Amino acid sequence: MSVLVQAPPEVNPLQDPLRFERRVPPCAIVIFGASGDLSKRKLLPSLYRLFYERRISPDFAVIGSSRTPMSDDQFRERMKESVSKFLEEAPFDEDVWKSFAQCLFYVPGDLNVPSSYDDIRSKLAEVEKSHRTADNVLFYLSTQPSHYAEAILELGAHQLNTGKGWRRVIIEKPFGHDLQSARKLNDEIHKVFDESAIYRIDHYLGKETVQNILAFRFGNGIFEPLWNRRYVDHIQITAAESIGVEGRGGYYQEAGALRDMIQNHLSQVMATVMMEPPTVFDATNVRDERAKLLRAVRVMKHEDVPKYAVAGQYGPALVGGQQVPGFRQEPSVDPDSQTETYAAVTFFIDNWRWAGTPVYIRTGKRMPKRVTDIAIQFKAPPLGLFQQETKTGLREVRPNLLVLRIQPEEGISLRFLSKSPGSGMRLRPVSMDFNYGSSFGERSPTAYETLLLDAMIGDPTLYTRQDMVEASWQIVQPILDVWANSKFYFPNYPAGSWGPKAADDMLAQQGHVWRIP
Ligand code: BG6
Repeated sequence: MSVLVQAPPEVNPLQDPLRFERRVPPCAIVIFGASGDLSKRKLLPSLYRLFYERRISPDFAVIGSSRTPMSDDQFRERMKESVSKFLEEAPFDEDVWKSFAQCLFYVPGDLNVPSSYDDIRSKLAEVEKSHRTADNVLFYLSTQPSHYAEAILELGAHQLNTGKGWRRVIIEKPFGHDLQSARKLNDEIHKVFDESAIYRIDHYLGKETVQNILAFRFGNGIFEPLWNRRYVDHIQITAAESIGVEGRGGYYQEAGALRDMIQNHLSQVMATVMMEPPTVFDATNVRDERAKLLRAVRVMKHEDVPKYAVAGQYGPALVGGQQVPGFRQEPSVDPDSQTETYAAVTFFIDNWRWAGTPVYIRTGKRMPKRVTDIAIQFKAPPLGLFQQETKTGLREVRPNLLVLRIQPEEGISLRFLSKSPGSGMRLRPVSMDFNYGSSFGERSPTAYETLLLDAMIGDPTLYTRQDMVEASWQIVQPILDVWANSKFYFPNYPAGSWGPKAADDMLAQQGHVWRIP
């Protein structure tokens, strides 16, 4: 007996741009690359968590697909193992899992083989009936990036891009390998999907603390008047990781730190910190402002790259009593690899608000600790009324510093000077701190939970748009060009350190120093 499924009216995210009361429509999610790491570590745990909290419609199904032959039950068993292992700060509940597992299906297939798409189509028709998915379909491309274009063209060739319900596609990073390939990929995808159906994921935009930057800036009246070149001396964005390449040597060797972190995550963070206020908080306006900021970043001349960009690669070292291999000794890495595991860049934003204020971005593997933060360093007061003379000259002034901590100790601190107790006017830096954990005392959703939910609802605010992606490739492209033709004397920093000396010299040119986060 066939069941007539009445699709509920689609939720219009524009009617709830602040995302309070959003109803999630029924849908099927097709994950290509379902046996991969991302699926195990992030996608399935996030979907389970959303299901557990009843934040998604019970009328939903997940169809995993990859080349590994598996039955539905084997897929469910595998995913159960991963979900219970990778659930972040959340309990695993056997009963909830049983209901969730009933929504999981598996279709073995090869993206290069056209019949695989027919199998997906049949499964979609099945779950539309059994799970009342209303023919709404979200495709998730979590495969080798070299297969993105081909998979999307095949979806088009098999008319999987249209139907009674909606069709959307989430595309994982990296989106292209350089500006030219990103443009080409956009062109290919647009042959099949309209821009409004394309969700390019950048998980940093889904992080609570990154979203909070907008709340902090535009929900309060006192910071924005200071948020410009008149008061801000410079900005430092740091994303340090203590881990190495963790078995991803093959991928990382092709990518490098600039592509892996700066072109996408950290450019988007920079855009969030420095964009103009949107007139309305909705997908179009927020993304317009991010795109405008990225377009205002000065594109370096090739001859300026050595002055404004530094590459590093870690060498072996003893870290915390343990011998750590250098990058060149990692599995699947070329013993003479010229790939950077550390990158530091100086950007200038050529717009009215930020002209002349440098933004320093650095990221690296095998740094002393895992920390991502943004430090806004304000200018010193015009007169050093309280400056003291010491034997070695004037004591260093510690200007105000506002630190937005993205992870791991999520929060915000403001450093200012205060009088030390005693008869003299001796000043000492102190800080006012906001800590997410203790202020709210509740778990924040993970970035993937937020982003998956948004895609199901049809809210692309936290996804990147074609113009944003192309603009962020544009600003790193000269660096990629010059580095591709450079010979580096790697390794140039030992594992467990804050990176190469050249990165300190880069800041010293402007009279600045990296802070130790
Ligand atoms: C990924 C990069 O996109 O982001 C990884 O490919 C990196 O190399 C990771 O480790 C960092 O993400 P997070 O959320 O742990 O800061």
